[in-house]
Amino acid sequence: MCGIVGYIGKQNATPIIIEGLRRESYRGYDSSGLVVFQNEGVVCIKAIGKLENLEAKLLNQNLNGTIGLGHVRWATHGGVTEENAHPHTDCKKNIFLVHNGIIENYAALKEKLIQKGHKFSSETDTEVLCHLIENFFRGNLEEAVRKALQYVKGTYGIAVISRQDPNKIVAARLSSPLLIGFNGDEYIVASDPAAVITRTKKAVNLEDNEIAVIAPEKFFILKEKTPQDLEIDSGEAEKGGYPHFMLKEIMEQPESLSDSLRGRLLVEEGLAKLGGLKKVEDKLREIERLNIIACGTAYHAGMVGEYMLEEYAGISTDVDLASEFRYRKPILDKKTAVLAISQSGETADTIAAIKEAKEKGVMTLGIVNAIGSSITKISEAGVYNHAGLEIGVAATKSFTSQLAVLSLLTLFLARQRQLSLVMGQRIAKEIGRIPELIKQVLINSPQIKELAEKYKNFNNFLFIGRKYNFPIALEGALKLKEISYVHSEGCGAGEMKHGTIALIDENFPTIAICPSDSVYEKMISNIQEIKARNGPIIAMATEGNEEIKNLVKDVIYIPKTLEMLTPILSVIPLQLFAYYMGVARGCDVDKPRNLAKSVTVE
Ligand code: AGP
Repeated sequence: MCGIVGYIGKQNATPIIIEGLRRESYRGYDSSGLVVFQNEGVVCIKAIGKLENLEAKLLNQNLNGTIGLGHVRWATHGGVTEENAHPHTDCKKNIFLVHNGIIENYAALKEKLIQKGHKFSSETDTEVLCHLIENFFRGNLEEAVRKALQYVKGTYGIAVISRQDPNKIVAARLSSPLLIGFNGDEYIVASDPAAVITRTKKAVNLEDNEIAVIAPEKFFILKEKTPQDLEIDSGEAEKGGYPHFMLKEIMEQPESLSDSLRGRLLVEEGLAKLGGLKKVEDKLREIERLNIIACGTAYHAGMVGEYMLEEYAGISTDVDLASEFRYRKPILDKKTAVLAISQSGETADTIAAIKEAKEKGVMTLGIVNAIGSSITKISEAGVYNHAGLEIGVAATKSFTSQLAVLSLLTLFLARQRQLSLVMGQRIAKEIGRIPELIKQVLINSPQIKELAEKYKNFNNFLFIGRKYNFPIALEGALKLKEISYVHSEGCGAGEMKHGTIALIDENFPTIAICPSDSVYEKMISNIQEIKARNGPIIAMATEGNEEIKNLVKDVIYIPKTLEMLTPILSVIPLQLFAYYMGVARGCDVDKPRNLAKSVTVE
């Protein structure tokens, strides 16, 4: 969604706010804006497009105010225009506000406020908040904000300043993430720790329905809180010499996987140690069904988890799109647990689906990457990915880490049930080899770059796979769509002949994921079907498989591992292919159009 930053202190607010927005710009980047209180008055500047356009407008403005707010936008209500960019203000240009989230009842509120004589200058839901606060403003900003929010339905992370009650920022949160960084007598309000970390490691996360009043000499929340240490370092928010965060995060996967596995594999005992599940260990022994809920890439990880959990732990597993789960009538009994998977831990549909499951009294678990995020607060127990900060909008290292954690969860639950010590040791040993095997896959990136160069002018792609690699076909297609805007379809190879194969001709290449596993022969027949229709093919096969070269010219090899773990290796060439296709087609791979890193609205 959007990213907000606020600064109050003794330093020049503008460069600090801009640096914060730069670090949040993966959250939204169709327009941006900033407001600063100067001695000479208020300066509010907005710009369409990337943050650089706002920075260009700020040159020669000589802003030196020490209180200000900034915003990067991902449009929901109202087109991408300067009027609709934030900050928004009220009729008297007294209240200035930036917002991340959606005001669901804005239309009704707007109508009432217009009847009261308020004049609106944008099409946004957010501007309603400014006029609502204006409606209650009697000189004290936090009081007006508190009263106004009682009428609001929806989600928000907001920061507000007022000319008539200056020298303070009022911040409030409901569902959208918001934290406040402390640094001596200066405070930074932000949607994301990355925007705070350059100034301080001390911060508090605002909880739902909390309002913070931040002034240099005083800071209070309408509920006491103690500052925590932020668990990221500023280096993580840098590109580290790579041209893009996406490539950096793909190349980091041997390390991010090692971090996800650290201290969790007991090879001798053939066990997985998951501290976050300790408190529900006995309850998990009684579970007979798992219902996984997630969105996008995390949903594809859940689909791989389904195969693992059913094959090795013998637990009946369903995987649901969170946005559908909350509206269908899922049958959830006491023997069922609901497992939410999310990189950001802030995805609105997944949060709502967990709340739905909690309503039904079933155990809720989470696999989450972002430390301290909402889902970690509302689920009963869970496992952190520890994949580190992921800035690229396209999920890459978080996905392979989700698969690794799902394989640990499978081992954990399977050993609670029928899985033997010997089999447990074999799986644990093989999981432990994965970081090294990923290094071997990444060595092929120059070859994948060449393939992307060769195929960059095709406008349609099909990805096929079976069993554990069916979800990887879906993920490969999603990555290519997200990053290069090429029409891509993922399909179960067995399903292809029931319609999708009609698309195939010499202009419609297929990427066939066919490691030497239990369904390899079936995949070869599907490759034959495509060849028969002159479809170009790129095959992904297991090292040592020479015969496939007789069938397909372009072959990408991955090392051999257990069938259940092949998805962790087979997805990486698809991440690289999407990346190099995006670069070859001149796309902004870190900030793909129309997308945002964490979707905090429904
Ligand atoms: C993946 O590249 C996308 N960024 C998107 O599909 C993402 O996976 C989805 O929005 C879920 O996000 P989450 O894992 O943070 O919940």
